[in-house]
Amino acid sequence: MIAGRRIVLGVSGSIAAFKGVALASQLVKAGASVDVVMTPSARRFIAPLSFRAITGRPVLTELWDEESSDAIGHVALGRAADLIVIAPATAATIARLAHGMADDALGATVLASSAPLLIAPAMEPHMWAAAATVENVTILRRRGAIVMEPGEGRLASGQIGRGRLPEPEEIVDAIAREFEREQDLMGRHVVVTAGGTREAIDPVRFIGNRSSGKMGVAVAEQARRRGARVTLIHGPLQVALPAGVEAVAVESTREMEEAIHSAVRTASALVMAAAPADFRPSAIAGQKIKRRASVTLDLVPNPDILARLADWRGIKVGFAAETDDVIENARAKVTAKRVDLIVANDVSEEGSGFGTDTNRVTFVFPDGRVESRPLQTKSAVADDILDLIVGLLALKEVVQPSST
Ligand SMILES: Cc1cc2nc3c(=O)[nH]c(=O)nc-3n(C[C@H](O)[C@H](O)[C@H](O)COP(=O)(O)O)c2cc1C
Repeated sequence: MIAGRRIVLGVSGSIAAFKGVALASQLVKAGASVDVVMTPSARRFIAPLSFRAITGRPVLTELWDEESSDAIGHVALGRAADLIVIAPATAATIARLAHGMADDALGATVLASSAPLLIAPAMEPHMWAAAATVENVTILRRRGAIVMEPGEGRLASGQIGRGRLPEPEEIVDAIAREFEREQDLMGRHVVVTAGGTREAIDPVRFIGNRSSGKMGVAVAEQARRRGARVTLIHGPLQVALPAGVEAVAVESTREMEEAIHSAVRTASALVMAAAPADFRPSAIAGQKIKRRASVTLDLVPNPDILARLADWRGIKVGFAAETDDVIENARAKVTAKRVDLIVANDVSEEGSGFGTDTNRVTFVFPDGRVESRPLQTKSAVADDILDLIVGLLALKEVVQPSST
């Protein structure tokens, strides 16, 4: 729902700046309150008055407006916004945002805001394909910004290729989708696990694995953004904990299992993105094991957390990080563990798996269906998983899940 929302519309110096006026008009018609922020270059293409006439609100063009009664307009706008949309976004603006530059009113507004950011680029095909732009877009997407794909066709300059500003209607649809998505987990409790576990060998050593926790943290972050109450049960992480989630730090697989059993009592869904160790030493040495010619570790299996939750009625999502026979292994897991979805990925593939910011995953369902996704940021994968959970919850109508 766009009605009643506060939207900041950033306009930068592209030949397509005039389309920003059509976008502002459609947003106002849909019931949003629209504040326009223009870069100095944008003013060379279109007068602020055009936006003022449509939105009925002042247009922020200067960081340095000594006449203004509101000396911190850029901070106030960014903080009050429900969403910031930048249309058109030039290559220069995208570069400044990727690097956190706050040297104009638009950059400062974005930096001061924690609202979702939607970017609609417009530029020459060569600028869009340039390595610098590709990297800047990747940085912004990794941070959670939605960067729309520009359209393909004849540009204002006469060039043909990818770089056209998406049509105002498409941008309005993307904004509406973002608002819809925003709260679709409201009232739900989602438990997410992240990171590897550590199994002690002696007081100073442990067996661990390469899981960075990025995938689970991305799921927790997106679930919270979509309105869920989130419990994040995690081993050691290589990324910062997301804000606004209830974090439970654990070390071993057995500790993780215990924490999950107590958290899922009130939960509607469990996403097991952690990599709990499958084995642990059969005994933990009480003293540090001294250097010697050889040491033999006797390993015993850890509990299979998901399999032991077979009777829990919430939505269960497991991950299968494999290095071979990815789909067969995932199919075996989906039945053995009685889960609703297995997210399979080949961790030996470049750009996928441990420590990366991206993942190429395949969804494997209990009915045998398999859906492959392209290489995406872990945030985008997280949103895809949550979309499926929302659908499954609606289907199962898990209102009051049973305890374990
Ligand atoms: C006629 C004209 C059209 C332009 N159109 C675009 C454009 O569509 N996309 C783009 O990235 N830059 C375009 N530029 C270049 C930008 O205006 C320039 O990089 C400027 O510094 C962008 O500043 P801003 O991002 O702060 O608005 C254009 C320049 C001119 C002179």
